[in-house]
Amino acid sequence: MRYSNLLFKSNLKHIPIKLMPAIIATAPGKAILFGEHAVVYKRPAIAVPVTKVRSKAIIVANPIGGKNKVTIEAPDINLFSTLEELDLNHPIAVAIHLMMKKLNISELPAFSLRVTSTIPIASGLGSSASTAIVIIRALNDFIGGNLSNKEINQLAFEVEIIHHGTPSGIDNSVITSSQPVFFITGKRIQRLKVGVPLRFIIGNTGIKSLTSDIVAEVKKEWQINPQAYEVIFNRIRQITLEAKKIIAKGDKKELGQLMNKNHEALQDLNVSCKELDILVNAAKQAGALGAKLCGAGRGGNMISLIENNTAPIVEKALMDAGAISIITTLVKRI
Ligand code: PMV
Repeated sequence: MRYSNLLFKSNLKHIPIKLMPAIIATAPGKAILFGEHAVVYKRPAIAVPVTKVRSKAIIVANPIGGKNKVTIEAPDINLFSTLEELDLNHPIAVAIHLMMKKLNISELPAFSLRVTSTIPIASGLGSSASTAIVIIRALNDFIGGNLSNKEINQLAFEVEIIHHGTPSGIDNSVITSSQPVFFITGKRIQRLKVGVPLRFIIGNTGIKSLTSDIVAEVKKEWQINPQAYEVIFNRIRQITLEAKKIIAKGDKKELGQLMNKNHEALQDLNVSCKELDILVNAAKQAGALGAKLCGAGRGGNMISLIENNTAPIVEKALMDAGAISIITTLVKRI
């Protein structure tokens, strides 16, 4: 969140192109290292920010616009609209209206909002939460809302409910804090201790999958066979608790093994798919210390833990095995 002077092209003919104050908010993507799905059932999970991909919101005041004249541009999803014309259930409209409610305001000063993101959509890297957070942060600055990070996180969670139905809250929490987190729904978010820098390669299957659909399917299966699913969720809890200790200790070899075990548990939950399994195996065969799907699954991304010197080999193996894109990310020692 910061003020900046941007060269902003005015679309109003009688206002020359000039320097206008703009408010910019940016936020990273995220990857779940351990515990996806089980986290919806109150088990712990571990997630890290992915800073190579980001979403960004820019707000520029429109000095001659009337009250409530808000224009919205989100070119990545081909959205060019006014707030008035936007579907009330659209996540951007939801974010703005939640902010107005929270700040107890019924009118907005005129402004234009531009939202962009390099986070792949519907791919398990937190694009929806990240976008909600930048919109809320930029608006908070623009209106002078003075909301704390905790309040911004809570509002982003409410927007996530529109996307995910029953989100655990891990996406908005890790992205708001921009730090590795140990997360249990309803409990205080814990910063994770990281004993050694951890380098990951994330590979995208290119298959878009809707988190809300997969979470709903897991719920259906859990309702049919609660005992079997509870056993798997408990297995994932044990893996996640162990991973928390191992990350603090900095034992990368052991951590890789735990990622492999978590992937097996996710296969048992039936949320992996052929394309994810192919990428996970390709990474391991190329020398990754461990690999697993990350996020809701059935497409989207997988994540592998690597040693520095194996990065090019693992990257090539993933591309050869069908990944449409690769992101490398480093989690620093904390
Ligand atoms: O696919 P993503 O990035 O939205 O991650 C979803 C993680 C789940 O545990 C499957 C759902 C949740 O809300 O925690």
